[in-house]
Amino acid sequence: MSEKSERLYEEIKRCDREIAQLLRTRMHCIEEITEYRRDHGLPILTPVPERRAPEALDVEDSPFGQEILRVFQEIHESGKRVQAKTLFDRNIFLIGFMGAGKSTISAALSRQLSLELIEMDAYIQEKEGMTISRIFDIHGEEYFRSCESDTLAELGKKDHALVSCGGGVPMREKNVEIMKKNGYVVLLSASPEAIYERVKDNTDRPLLNGHMNVSYIEELMEKRRPKYEHAADLIVDTTGKEVQEICEELLRKLCALQSERERK
Ligand code: S3P
Repeated sequence: MSEKSERLYEEIKRCDREIAQLLRTRMHCIEEITEYRRDHGLPILTPVPERRAPEALDVEDSPFGQEILRVFQEIHESGKRVQAKTLFDRNIFLIGFMGAGKSTISAALSRQLSLELIEMDAYIQEKEGMTISRIFDIHGEEYFRSCESDTLAELGKKDHALVSCGGGVPMREKNVEIMKKNGYVVLLSASPEAIYERVKDNTDRPLLNGHMNVSYIEELMEKRRPKYEHAADLIVDTTGKEVQEICEELLRKLCALQSERERK
């Protein structure tokens, strides 16, 4: 290798070491801010100043501006993961009745904490190559329930994933055992009226087709309530609340649970 290229390779190596060192410092800062916010009861998901980063970085005129911004996007995502890892140490399983808000809340949380999101119904639909309603029609409910159990067993190996479970998942004790072994089980609840409002125009839920009314929803919810509550490590009521408010409440309760477990 020529003397010039050797020198340049050395220079690149030095840059990498410096970048790695700076990233370590940056991640420590995020860890500390997250702990501070948690310990002082401040909102954890309030957008961090990182959102202003593109301007602050002052790279617009650089020929490498686009590349640098792309790297920073990844750095921001990794910062969110550091936040998540500071707050809790396992997967999160969101359970609750149809329309309780599992999909909405899991999408918001996974975006804000850069968590891998698994929508169980979508995962099963993809694997089986047909909609949930069609699975029920062709193979029956028991078959669908076994798909749910198989999926949970597969997902058990994940780390810091967010799993949005179908509403019937906690009905099987085996499913509850798998969830509890691999993560925190968060129950989202809502009033039957709120549920009705959220699902009334939807036809993808075979269990509600032909029974789309508040009293049927209430009856089925009551039937399921003991199993939901038995499965839950914590409960968040979503009735009349904004998405962000629910995410913050969920995290606050999760942190309390995490520190309780660490004390034991
Ligand atoms: C079901 C809930 C649905 C879906 C299926 C059965 C249930 O998921 O898994 O229609 O038994 O409660 P969502 O809770 O996401 O609607």
